[in-house]
Amino acid sequence: MKTPEVVPSLLAGDLARLGAQLDAVRAAGCGWVSVDVMDGHFVPNLSFGPDFARLAKSRGFFVDAHLMVSNPLAAAPWFARAGADLVTIHQEAVADAAAALAAVRGLGVRAGLAVKPGTPVAPLLAALDSCDLALVMTVEPGFGGQAFMADMLPKVAALRAAVDARGLDCWIQVDGGVGASTIAAAAGAGADSLVAGSAVFGAPDCAAAFRALEARARAAFAAKASQT
Ligand code: DX5
Repeated sequence: MKTPEVVPSLLAGDLARLGAQLDAVRAAGCGWVSVDVMDGHFVPNLSFGPDFARLAKSRGFFVDAHLMVSNPLAAAPWFARAGADLVTIHQEAVADAAAALAAVRGLGVRAGLAVKPGTPVAPLLAALDSCDLALVMTVEPGFGGQAFMADMLPKVAALRAAVDARGLDCWIQVDGGVGASTIAAAAGAGADSLVAGSAVFGAPDCAAAFRALEARARAAFAAKASQT
């Protein structure tokens, strides 16, 4: 398990001052942000284009583009060209996950695979050797500010066991409802990449919120490590 990273999601950012918010969390030690991309078809919302990945890259972050879109292989090149370091596609949007992940890697970026709450963990386990990140959605994708679905944590635990058993270099990410009261459970289950939108950019002081979440995640990581 890697040292947990708290990954602020731009979806919760204040578009009138997003650059300042990004600079604030960067100064607080944040190195990775997530761009939630929505096409209004795969999910009932429309969000960001590649320019938001370009903005985040210009601020010095590792950028992941989470493609909640029905045609991820059409969109992936746009975000790769805009500077995304990792592109995550949804299992539910592709016929052959391994082939799709290889196509994403072929763009020169890391590849992630995500499952919605209603999709079992099996396809992620089957594709683990082909991806750099496995994402367990802990909300129904489409909107920020939803409640964390703790019943998704067994999927995280199953992924953690598989990644550790196979010695894979694969992040295990959760996304949705991650905050002060839920991040320890997510990290304790084995997640080492924790996407947080509202809990960071929705807070009065996003830098302080980031630092507090990171401390909670790393304390849970240390407690878990001491048990093994
Ligand atoms: C859902 C989005 C959200 C977002 C995080 O499609 O992916 O999960 O990143 O939102 P919060 O942290 O506010 O739940």
